[in-house]
Amino acid sequence: MNKNIAVIRGDGIGPEIVNEAIKVLDVIAEKYGHTFSYTDADMGGCAIDKYGDPLPQHELDKCLKTDSVLLGAVGGPKWDGVPGNMRPEKGLLRIRAGMGVYSNNRPAKIWPQLASASPLKPEIVEKGIDFIIVRELIGGIYFGEHKTYGQGEKVSEDVMKYSESEIERIGRIGFETARKRRKKLCSVEKSNVLDTSRLWKSVMHRLAAEYPDVELSDMLVDNCAMQIVKDPSQFDVIVTENMFGDILSDEASMITGSIGMIPSSSLGATSNGLYEPIHGSAPDIAGKDVANPIGTILSAAMMLRFSFDMPAEADDIEAAVGKVLSEGYRTGDIMSSEDGLKLTKCSEMGDLICRAIKASK
Ligand code: IPM
Ligand code: MG
Repeated sequence: MNKNIAVIRGDGIGPEIVNEAIKVLDVIAEKYGHTFSYTDADMGGCAIDKYGDPLPQHELDKCLKTDSVLLGAVGGPKWDGVPGNMRPEKGLLRIRAGMGVYSNNRPAKIWPQLASASPLKPEIVEKGIDFIIVRELIGGIYFGEHKTYGQGEKVSEDVMKYSESEIERIGRIGFETARKRRKKLCSVEKSNVLDTSRLWKSVMHRLAAEYPDVELSDMLVDNCAMQIVKDPSQFDVIVTENMFGDILSDEASMITGSIGMIPSSSLGATSNGLYEPIHGSAPDIAGKDVANPIGTILSAAMMLRFSFDMPAEADDIEAAVGKVLSEGYRTGDIMSSEDGLKLTKCSEMGDLICRAIKASK
């Protein structure tokens, strides 16, 4: 198959981790007889420096013409002073909205090799951690009106707004995702306080009638934050709005050992998706070749699985990651005091994963 992939390296560690993912994609292309071509696009701080805009329309248009987008990370202290609507993160929000990718899928799964890197007690980890957060990505408070006004004392407002149809389309993704797994869907909201959450809950219950094989439960977001550390084994699929999903997915990643391991897919009505690790640009370690590229490499695997219909290729990448971890290779973020572990650079990690793919049948 021929696929054209837009590549946004972004800022901080973005370029390093994306380069490792491209190495892996090239090895896959060679092994399976595909042709992957890459279209570079600028977004985030580097686009502000180059064009004075975190995502100029021409860069978004480039991405829309490709088969999917692979993204590293954006942002950094250099652009802290720029106005809110011109921040690097605004580029990220604009590409998500511009591509219409309303459904963000963030798996929280513990790799058995990394169990000792989890901050949870071993008896909790042993019960298993394997759930997915389905986060609504292009609505809610992130995209409501933002304003700051007032003379003397300033006042700020950010509007959280959801329509029934926005809730319904993400709700369906939640039910469909659960249907392919252990058939348990937990809808997370704050319906004891927020109108948007009461609407959310009512739409989820209306949809439940169409998915009788899926067991739907409701949970308040504050309780969910607690349950994720108390007993994560209770969760299969969590569906939630944009900001709650942002916060809960960082928490969920941490209990699996490191945020550096977690990939994500974002999809809308077409197969053209946006794939990015869930961590940030980590400016403090940028350019040092010490970042963990696995979240980005696994995001590339998700691209093959969900946008390109290449499940064997995606399995191959995931198995190679498992093999390299089993051999004891660790970047700094997943290093522990266990015997026999080898501290590994970002580029070495990419090379080892490529080698494991080439070596497997
Ligand atoms: C994420 C990030 C982004 C978000 C930031 C960088 C805008 O935290 O992808 O989780 O809040 O969505
Ligand atoms: Mg986040």
